[in-house]
Amino acid sequence: MRTLNPPLGPLSVDQFMRGHWQRKPLLIRAALPDFKPPLSPEALFELATRDDVESRLVSQPRGRWRLDRGPFDAQDLPARTRRAWTLLVQGVDLHVDAVHDLLARFRFVPDVRLDDLMISYATDGGGVGPHVDSYDVFLLQAHGRRRWRISAPRAIELLPDAPLRILSHFEAEQEWVLEPGDILYLPPLWGHEGTALGECMTYSIGFRAPSRLELLRGFLADCADSVGGSDPRFGDRGLAPTRTPGRLPEPMTRSLAGWLADWRPTKRQIDDYIGRFLTEPKPSVWFEAQARPPALSPWWEAAQRRGLRADRRSRLAYRGRHLFINGESFEMPSGTSARLRRLADSRELPPDALRATPVDSDLARTLHQWFCAGWIHHSR
Ligand code: SIN
Ligand code: CO
Repeated sequence: MRTLNPPLGPLSVDQFMRGHWQRKPLLIRAALPDFKPPLSPEALFELATRDDVESRLVSQPRGRWRLDRGPFDAQDLPARTRRAWTLLVQGVDLHVDAVHDLLARFRFVPDVRLDDLMISYATDGGGVGPHVDSYDVFLLQAHGRRRWRISAPRAIELLPDAPLRILSHFEAEQEWVLEPGDILYLPPLWGHEGTALGECMTYSIGFRAPSRLELLRGFLADCADSVGGSDPRFGDRGLAPTRTPGRLPEPMTRSLAGWLADWRPTKRQIDDYIGRFLTEPKPSVWFEAQARPPALSPWWEAAQRRGLRADRRSRLAYRGRHLFINGESFEMPSGTSARLRRLADSRELPPDALRATPVDSDLARTLHQWFCAGWIHHSR
């Protein structure tokens, strides 16, 4: 996956990041001129039949919002001639190379901030109602036309009893009709409502940002799983008899409070967890380990001839001497770090990056291990 030109029209990446990212919306006409959607509606419907793909159907029978969750067989979907329904398929980049490749256009933002590419298909009048998202999004019009209406962040109230998060009050301040190849960028919490004008497909390139609570929950669970060493247990030798057995014993409260107040994660625990947390694969992703792992030596010869590439579902990031891949942390042995960083930045290692390296090197062994886990593959 190379890093391709950002689809920001006349704006440079610097101008976009300074003026718009997390600040204000931007409409980019012909951001991807001559864009041809890599996926037909039929191929999207096919993806929605799979149980490893998250899909949702939004419709409004008799004017009431309805949400159904996939997988959907062909007969579960309304006819294409029926008005105002939307099929949303999440994480299409995890399943279709050509869609995954589109994300290379957005790598001016670090990979760990990218979430996924969702595709929506809608018939005329279809949409998911006015709402806000917690994350930045680029809405790429892939096929047909869609009207977008937006409003600045404000206190929100949701429709009661609706199966989706829909704003009960929404007054648009700006609106545009997007044509194929146009992009609308929205920062988090901007109100927006998209309505299909005829049959329409929209690609949402969505970002992610952990909340403090999400991070803390995961971190504390991780620490609890990995407490090693001694585990002192409370004791109260010499305890005086009590006449108020319902009262919390003060010495016990003080001891336990001390354990909590004095607990400190180490810097190493913190740094390690952040890298693992940010490269954790999506919950729907399972890597198939090689049933019969190839012997190192012929495998390395093939890797040197063909090069290696990251699986499209693999998440990689590095910091200092550590490389994080798919929620695991590796300390990079000396002599490997330039190439492992290159793998994270370009998601591939061409033959010339591997050629001079012997089979008994740390690099060959590490990459072989990742290949056997299904995280990287030979290049095509
Ligand atoms: C859609 O594509 O219909 C919805 C995308 C969004 O509003 O985030
Ligand atoms: Co949205």
